[in-house]
Amino acid sequence: MSDIEEILVSFHETRMLVDTKLREYLANREPLLAMLQESIDYTLFSGGKRIRPLFCFIVGELYDIPRSTLLSLGCALEMIHTASLIMDDLPHMDDAKIRRGKPANHMIYGQDVAALASIGLLTRAYEVVLKDPQLPADKKAPIVGELARVVGIDGMVGGQFVDLKHANASMDKSVLEFIHTNKTASLFVASGTTAAIVADATQEEIEALKGYAMHLGFAFQILDDLLDVLGKVEEVGKSLQSDKANFVTFYGVEGSKALVQKHTSDAINAAGIFEGKNQKLIALAQMLLKRKS
Ligand code: IPE
Ligand code: IPE
Ligand code: MG
Ligand code: MG
Repeated sequence: MSDIEEILVSFHETRMLVDTKLREYLANREPLLAMLQESIDYTLFSGGKRIRPLFCFIVGELYDIPRSTLLSLGCALEMIHTASLIMDDLPHMDDAKIRRGKPANHMIYGQDVAALASIGLLTRAYEVVLKDPQLPADKKAPIVGELARVVGIDGMVGGQFVDLKHANASMDKSVLEFIHTNKTASLFVASGTTAAIVADATQEEIEALKGYAMHLGFAFQILDDLLDVLGKVEEVGKSLQSDKANFVTFYGVEGSKALVQKHTSDAINAAGIFEGKNQKLIALAQMLLKRKS
């Protein structure tokens, strides 16, 4: 099998594994919560690519850590990510009406329920990691600490805030970089570093993984900005924000495409430290380069 074929198999397996476990983690027996449950399931099982758990598992494989050990963490990453998307689409945020090819969560369940679904997913993420008997007890606090950091003010919340309040055509490029680092790349970074914590990776390896994930996150979000400008809603599956200042505003279409390539190569170079066993890290970066949604 080629590296790309192998990563596609990993992708498929990750999706099956994570989806099954997510159903278990989010199962509800309280009839009064039926609509909240429906709202959570609606976005959680609407065809997300599950890239963050996949990356987490690939890092685990570098150290022979089985997926079963990292499964609660992979699910937590996906819960956090889905929570962020539900929140991101709300009318007082991006006011997006379509997500993953369907009406956004609040369009079906209302803003009140969507906000609660998002907070419910976020908090369940921490809970499943803390309660997982498969994870070594001494690793739980560092993992949850790292997750909370990248979700919070020094991560996604901060990035989303600056995206909403300071993104305009006259912003400094450093502001643009702040947004991408915090709203997107930070969760990619945590997807790798938390797996590395479980694996007792060396500081040098953790730094390399951070570098890889930061570049991957940048390539990913710049491509997202390009899709906002060049994509079609039917193909991308979500509302496009062609009028918003982003990487394309600053670097143009060709400049942004070149930056996606550069960050992809930088990610691959950062993975060099794992030579001999980094094929999946390389294939993941190359595969994301080709994504259309
Ligand atoms: C979309 O992320 C939001 C960004 C951070 C750009 P994904 O493209 O990973 O979303 P899904 O989960 O596959 O829908
Ligand atoms: C999404 O950023 C980042 C988070 C949800 C944290 P965008 O607003 O640019 O992503 P899409 O295009 O809505 O997926
Ligand atoms: Mg947004
Ligand atoms: Mg958005």
